[in-house]
Amino acid sequence: MNKLKVGVLISGRGSNMEALAEACRSDDHPAEISVVVSNRADAAGLERAASFGIATAVVDHTAFADKAAFEAEVIRVLEGHGVELICLAGFMRVLSEDFVARFSHKILNIHPSLLPAFPGLHVQRNAIEYGVRLSGCTVHFVVPEVDAGPIVLQAAVPIEPDDTEDTLAARILEQEHRIYPAAVELFAHGRLRIEGRRVLIAPAADGPE
Ligand code: GRF
Repeated sequence: MNKLKVGVLISGRGSNMEALAEACRSDDHPAEISVVVSNRADAAGLERAASFGIATAVVDHTAFADKAAFEAEVIRVLEGHGVELICLAGFMRVLSEDFVARFSHKILNIHPSLLPAFPGLHVQRNAIEYGVRLSGCTVHFVVPEVDAGPIVLQAAVPIEPDDTEDTLAARILEQEHRIYPAAVELFAHGRLRIEGRRVLIAPAADGPE
């Protein structure tokens, strides 16, 4: 099978990258990770990626004069690996409009809330403090506005009365690791069509699931 080439951008732990890498191990999975790029040299995810035999690169944003120069180097690495889909997985830099336009509808992100609720940072804490009963996670296409792109998949996670930021984050993460590979699989099979804000999912070629 000719697998879709994915580039994963990380800044830290890399557990979502690892979930994607696990899924890609299967011969049936239609994608493969060609390269993992981190903007931080100390990202734990780099070692995790290497343990899967995946190529890694560090592009340290502090080493560049401006965002455009940083992004030009990220693009050079991604294009050098023939990347056809970019997955942000705990990547802590906001991509410029130019970057997003260059890979229009070819960048996915995972966010640990049910968007459009709780975009941004400290998401689990905000959800608990707000008092919502349900949180969860969202895989969405990236647009220049942060956490605002068309939604591909979501999973709901109930908030328990004794939840802390950490316990809630851990339960949401389990769902992240499930829906991110599923979203990549749908993309790789060409089953996602964007209409305005909505993402339509075409039935599988081999009949209903
Ligand atoms: C995840 O919670 C993800 O939703 C958010 O950042 C965290 C990254 O975790 N965007 P990891 O690096 O994938 O373990």
